[in-house]
Amino acid sequence: MMRIGIVGVGQVGETLGCIWARAGHEVAFGSRDSVKAAATVKGLAGAHAMTQEQAVAFGDVVLWTPRGVMPADPNLLAGKIVLDPNNREPDPGRNYASPRPNGLSYAERLQAAAPQARVVKVFNTIVMRVLRETPERLAASGTQVLLASDDGEAKTVAAGLAADAGLGAVDLGGLDASWLAEAMADAFRQGMRTSPAEWRQALVFADLTDRPN
Ligand SMILES: NC(=O)c1ccc[n+]([C@@H]2O[C@H](COP(=O)([O-])OP(=O)(O)OC[C@H]3O[C@@H](n4cnc5c(N)ncnc54)[C@H](OP(=O)(O)O)[C@@H]3O)[C@@H](O)[C@H]2O)c1
Repeated sequence: MMRIGIVGVGQVGETLGCIWARAGHEVAFGSRDSVKAAATVKGLAGAHAMTQEQAVAFGDVVLWTPRGVMPADPNLLAGKIVLDPNNREPDPGRNYASPRPNGLSYAERLQAAAPQARVVKVFNTIVMRVLRETPERLAASGTQVLLASDDGEAKTVAAGLAADAGLGAVDLGGLDASWLAEAMADAFRQGMRTSPAEWRQALVFADLTDRPN
């Protein structure tokens, strides 16, 4: 059992936080909106509603979902395993091919902003609606996430949390490989735009709609 702080109760924070609470972890949902946080934890054992700052303080593991927002107090993340699922925002035309991203990945920027955090790039290549499937069905599908971090132990913890959702994990290497995961997510989303009928098969995401139970 781990103590997990969720920063930002949006699609990723709510989906993964609820999965981890159901798996038996203690989960703090940290939001700027106390009403939203309270609604999220209602009826969910092991779940607590907090501010974002309180959720950071609560967690041994922190899921950092606000895209491009850096911690106001980096010291609060010192020593914590920080999971970064962030992907870039598409341009208005939702074209991921151009302009090309350059410079540091989101995960590298978070690590630079909080040097004592144990940042892991993970969960950015999984569409949250896929996680509506039960962990058992997902595990049977072979669906995986990608991991990149300079901290091996943190990657092991992240892989365990992925397994709680029914997801396997593929280790890409150090944090300098995190841009690959972010580029992969761009490729997936470009495929969803350019080939909406075929993208699941072409891009390995499990299409479980016609699988037997
Ligand atoms: N949705 C997906 O399927 C998916 C899959 C993989 C990766 N991702 C990536 O994961 C990240 C989160 O995606 P999402 O779909 O969960 O987005 P979202 O629904 O917009 O949630 C992001 C949360 O971040 C918080 N936030 C936003 N702006 C903030 C600010 N200025 N300061 C502090 N907190 C702020 C908000 O939390 P509160 O209002 O609760 O404070 C918000 O609910 C994105 O980078 C996205 O590209 C998304």
